[in-house]
Amino acid sequence: MNAFNLTQKLPLFILIALISFCLNACTKDKHNHQNLSTGEEYYNEHCTACHNKEGSGTFLKGIPANIATNKNKTEIILHIKRGSQDKHSQMPIFPNMPDDEAKKIANYLLHLKNKYFNNPDNKGKVLLKR
Ligand code: HEC
Repeated sequence: MNAFNLTQKLPLFILIALISFCLNACTKDKHNHQNLSTGEEYYNEHCTACHNKEGSGTFLKGIPANIATNKNKTEIILHIKRGSQDKHSQMPIFPNMPDDEAKKIANYLLHLKNKYFNNPDNKGKVLLKR
């Protein structure tokens, strides 16, 4: 393969990259899980992989504790469905998530936050904030 061939094929490579990116993004937010119904179940399905079950984040991966958030319920829902104000955010957006599900997740996250901060064992512990 010479250099001329390579530049000719470049648009094809870009196209393939774009298609696989879209497939990846689309399969991540299929929202096909009728078996789930509570905020906890939805949270565990969509959020714990990064933020973990307690919402304390994954320090080594640079993922902040979402329980350390100052956002209110509405702002959390917006963060989930429309994304972060931070343009370089590594957090996926869930545009296909039903409002009711996002609301339940936001409620559950605020519940985790209260639980964490009301536990005296957690006094003085440092959470990774954004
Ligand atoms: C792929 C990893 C990943 C997943 C999955 C994920 N997050 Fe995040 N989240 C991040 C990262 C990285 C940030 C920091 C950047 C930002 O604010 O977007 C973040 C930030 C946040 C914040 C903002 C915290 C602040 O500073 O106020 C909230 C709230 C949040 N996530 C909630 C959620 C919820 C709820 C879910 C599940 C629906 C979720 N996240 C799923 C990676 C993830």
